[in-house]
Amino acid sequence: MSALTEATTSDLTVRKLHPALGAEVRGIDMRRPLDPATASALQAIWMEHLVLVFPSQNVTDAEHVAFTRYFGEPEIFHQKIIRSERVQEIFRVSNVNEDGVLMPPDHPVAQQVALAQFWHTDSSYKDIPCTGALLHGVEVSRTGGETQFTNMYLVYDALSPALKRLVDGRKARHNFGHMHSQAALKPLTEEEKAAMPPVWQPIVRQHPVTGRKALYISPIYNDEVEGMSADDAKRLIVELTQIAADPRFVYTHRWETDDVLMWDNRCSMHQVTPFDPRERRVMHRTTIVGQDRVMAG
Ligand SMILES: [Fe+2]
Repeated sequence: MSALTEATTSDLTVRKLHPALGAEVRGIDMRRPLDPATASALQAIWMEHLVLVFPSQNVTDAEHVAFTRYFGEPEIFHQKIIRSERVQEIFRVSNVNEDGVLMPPDHPVAQQVALAQFWHTDSSYKDIPCTGALLHGVEVSRTGGETQFTNMYLVYDALSPALKRLVDGRKARHNFGHMHSQAALKPLTEEEKAAMPPVWQPIVRQHPVTGRKALYISPIYNDEVEGMSADDAKRLIVELTQIAADPRFVYTHRWETDDVLMWDNRCSMHQVTPFDPRERRVMHRTTIVGQDRVMAG
């Protein structure tokens, strides 16, 4: 590859989007290869800001997957109905099928995708969750459908001493099937259940790269907390979620077509604001395979 086709670190400009997290990065063209210096500069910028916004990236799915590889191995999602049939690393966050037809709001895929309207961190129900995700706005919504992110380092730091004592060293259960029971979705098939047994994760984790402590909950999947009754567990998760949703920790992204957002699931949660289900919304996501089990903080 020639130097002309590579982005170089000198091209990068970074603009902070919110005091808590989020930065817009310009000077990258995801259709072109990245040189190693730029890739490692981006990695450092990502660790600092948690959520990166890359505007005007008119990428194909294959280019999106290729860009993801600079940050790790792209994951192949376990549910066939959500995965793209054309590029298997692409997870379709979409109410439009691959033939371009809008799904009715009660379609199981549309309903599952709508569950992103609750705070979560991606694939926390896996023994080794994904490290991050990259989402490409192919057809963005105007009636809502903004993505909100919260900085879980700051949320942990802001907990009262009593809450810190309660969560330090404790685990919560993350159950993929819990999401389905909450939303009255079709129950998981035996094959899906067997593929995704519930896992226990520390509520306070240490980030493997930055070493910082972050709160680690995923309210749509959390159905139990170690040593607590079901009611107390539910109350605790609700209380922690309310703190996490405080606007001082939250960046809200209003999408433009061909924005690509990249976030770190180890220290942030996200949710989508409601939108009119009759409006087309097509977002393509990759996730990055995790390296290690979640480390208690
Ligand atoms: Fe998500």
